[in-house]
Amino acid sequence: MKILNLGAGGFIGSHLTHRLLNEGHTVTAVDLETEKVIDCLEHPNLVFFQQDIRKPGWDLDALVRESDLVMDLIAYANPGLYLRIPLEVFQLNFVENLKIAEACVRHGKRLIQFSTCEVYGRSAATLKNAHVADPEDPIHATFSEDTSEYILGPVSKHRWIYSCAKQLLERVLHAYGIEQGFNYTIIRPFNFIGPKIDFLLHEKEGIPRVFSFFMDALLNGTQMKLVNGGVQRRCYSYIDDAIECTYRIVENPGGVCNQQIFNIGSPANEVSIRQMAELMREIYAEKFRDPAVRLPEIVSVTGEEFYGQGYDDSDRRIPDISKAQKLLGWEPRWGIRDILETTMRYYVGEYRKNTASSVVAGNG
Ligand SMILES: NC(=O)c1ccc[n+]([C@@H]2O[C@H](COP(=O)([O-])OP(=O)(O)OC[C@H]3O[C@@H](n4cnc5c(N)ncnc54)[C@H](O)[C@@H]3O)[C@@H](O)[C@H]2O)c1
Repeated sequence: MKILNLGAGGFIGSHLTHRLLNEGHTVTAVDLETEKVIDCLEHPNLVFFQQDIRKPGWDLDALVRESDLVMDLIAYANPGLYLRIPLEVFQLNFVENLKIAEACVRHGKRLIQFSTCEVYGRSAATLKNAHVADPEDPIHATFSEDTSEYILGPVSKHRWIYSCAKQLLERVLHAYGIEQGFNYTIIRPFNFIGPKIDFLLHEKEGIPRVFSFFMDALLNGTQMKLVNGGVQRRCYSYIDDAIECTYRIVENPGGVCNQQIFNIGSPANEVSIRQMAELMREIYAEKFRDPAVRLPEIVSVTGEEFYGQGYDDSDRRIPDISKAQKLLGWEPRWGIRDILETTMRYYVGEYRKNTASSVVAGNG
C-alpha cells in the first residue's frame, strides 16, 4: 500500500514508519522533526516532508489523493503542553487534525486516527457522590471503547482540553461515518513506553512524559518528583506490542476495523506512578548505575508546583482490550519490568554515547 504517515517523526510514528517499510509498503511521511527516523531517510520507499502542517508549503489534498491509507498521529501529546499552551493544543489536535480528516472524506480514503485513552477521563469511583461498594475494584477504572461513560474535570482545569479536543474529533469522524459512509478507525493508546519516547528534558517540549522525566533524574542524579504523591495508576505498554496491534489495524482483515475504535494497552501492567519510580530506581541501581552519580531521592510535589495552574489528572485507567483480542487476535506480550529495563537500556546507551562525544568534542 501507499501510506501517508502524518507524525512519522514522533515516538509512535517513527516506530510505525520502520514497521511499514519493513512490511514492503511505500510511505509518505510528514513531520516537523526527522531525528527519530534519521536511519531510514534514505530508504527507497520513503519520501519525507519536513513540514509544519499549520503553515503553507504542502499540498494536503494531493498527498491524501495519492494514498491508499492515511494515518494521523500529529498532536501535542505531552501533559506539560496542555497546561502551558491549551489554545495551541486545541488548534493542532482538533482544528488541524479535522482538516486532515475532511481531506480523507473528500477523497474517499480510509483514515487511521490516533486519539487517546485520556478521552475516558477519571474513573467512576472519583465522582463526588459515587456509591461504589468497593472503589478498588478494577471494574470502576476499566474502559471499553463502545460503552464507557466519560468523566472530565471542570473547564478551569484546562488540562482536559487535550481530552476534549480528541473526543470532539472522534465524534466528528463518527458523524462523517454515519452521514457519508466515511471509513475511519480510531486508536486510543494507553501509555506506551519504548526507545525514542521523548528527548530527555527537551527544550522544545518542556517537561517530558513521566518515564522520560524519571530517566533524566536517574541519569543526572536529580530528584524524581511524584505529582501529588504518585498515587495515580497507569497501565504501560511496550511500543513493540503497540505497533503490532496498530499494524493489524493497518491490515484490517476482512474490514473488521472499519468505523471501529480500538483501545491499545496492557491491562496486566498496572502500576502507580510511585511504584514506577521505585521500580525504575531499583532497575537502574542493579543494572546501569554510574557510581559517580548518586541515586536520586523520590519526593512528592503538588500538581500546581510541577505543571502550573489548571492541573488535574486521571486517577486510574485500565484498558479493556477484548475488542482487539477478538477481532485482531492480538495479545500484549511485554511485562512492566522488561518494558522499563529495555527502554532504560536504550536511554543509558544514548546518554553515554552523547556524553562521550561531547567530551571528545570538548577535547578537540
Ligand atoms: N504515546 C502514547 O502513549 C500516547 C498516548 C495517548 C495518545 N497518543 C496519541 O498518539 C499520537 C502519537 O503520539 P506520540 O507519543 O508519538 O507523540 P509525539 O509527540 O512523539 O509525536 C507527534 C508528532 O507530531 C509532530 N508534530 C507536532 N506538531 C506538528 C506540526 N504542526 N506539523 C507537523 N508535525 C507536527 C511532532 O513533531 C511529533 O513528531 C498522538 O496523536 C497522541 O496524542 C499517544
